[in-house]
Amino acid sequence: MHKDVESILISQEKLGKIVKSLAKQIEKDYNGKEFIMVGLLKGSIVFMAELMTRIDLDFEIDFMVASSYGGGTESSGKVKIVKDLSISPKDKDILIVEDIVDSGNTLNFVINHLVSEGANSVKVCTLCDKPSRRKVPLTPDYCGAEIPDEFIVGFGLDYDEKYRNLPYVGILKRSVYES
Ligand code: IMP
Ligand code: MG
Repeated sequence: MHKDVESILISQEKLGKIVKSLAKQIEKDYNGKEFIMVGLLKGSIVFMAELMTRIDLDFEIDFMVASSYGGGTESSGKVKIVKDLSISPKDKDILIVEDIVDSGNTLNFVINHLVSEGANSVKVCTLCDKPSRRKVPLTPDYCGAEIPDEFIVGFGLDYDEKYRNLPYVGILKRSVYES
């Protein structure tokens, strides 16, 4: 285990099961539909890479970058789109893939943006959800794990751009960000 990790919250083995189960649900719901899987960079990359290989359907992928975090562990609430889609979402069914929903500010902003650009439908698949921290109403359509109010890292999730490569999801030691 990494020295900055307090404990492992979701093991590598459990992550594999979560990804498989979400992929099966998506496969069932999107069968016969043309959709674009949109990853929110950078946190979603590991999750999305594993998820997409488990979905036996034809679909396109694209990426967006939305920023709301200064660098700490709290969302600033002010979201901006740093990189937009390269494919037009007009009349398309969009499945957003996200690492974690916290306040909900980021996804709320991104969903409204895609709807205003004419998307036919917008759904959300998140690896983790911290429902106790929600500031705007938002319920992910697909969720891997509901987690307590702890700051987590690994499997794509970072603190200050570190720990994304950890093969598990772990709780970050408070001493790393409190001092
Ligand atoms: P929201 O806009 O407050 O919902 O924040 C969502 C974004 O904040 C996620 O895409 C993550 O990048 C980041 N975030 C929120 N909680 C955590 C966490 O526990 N670990 C790592 N990143 C987090
Ligand atoms: Mg993110």
